[in-house]
Amino acid sequence: MQAGEYMVVSVTDTGTGMGPDVIARAFDPFFTTKPLGQGTGLGPSMIYGFAKQSGGQVRIYSEVGRGATT
Ligand SMILES: Nc1ncnc2c1ncn2[C@@H]1O[C@H](COP(=O)(O)OP(=O)(O)OP(=O)(O)O)[C@@H](O)[C@H]1O
Ligand SMILES: [Mg+2]
Repeated sequence: MQAGEYMVVSVTDTGTGMGPDVIARAFDPFFTTKPLGQGTGLGPSMIYGFAKQSGGQVRIYSEVGRGATT
């Protein structure tokens, strides 16, 4: 990232959490762990696209069973 001032938006949930394998793919468009027809796989991937277009970045911190912070 270029030097400058940035705003941070952070959201934490208490859901299922993600292991490293899922975190690694969560930003892939259409990647979903939900059953066929139930997940779009367009959540984190849209955030990734918006953040990158805006010169920012996005990260996921999560452990299985311990929720996620993005
Ligand atoms: N907050 C979260 N907690 C746990 N897993 C998540 C979280 N956000 C994303 N994931 C994982 O990343 C995958 C892709 O997320 P994404 O939001 O793009 O699709 P989805 O949640 O499967 O579908 P939809 O958002 O349309 O219901 C999910 O299937 C899930 O495995
Ligand atoms: Mg989702």
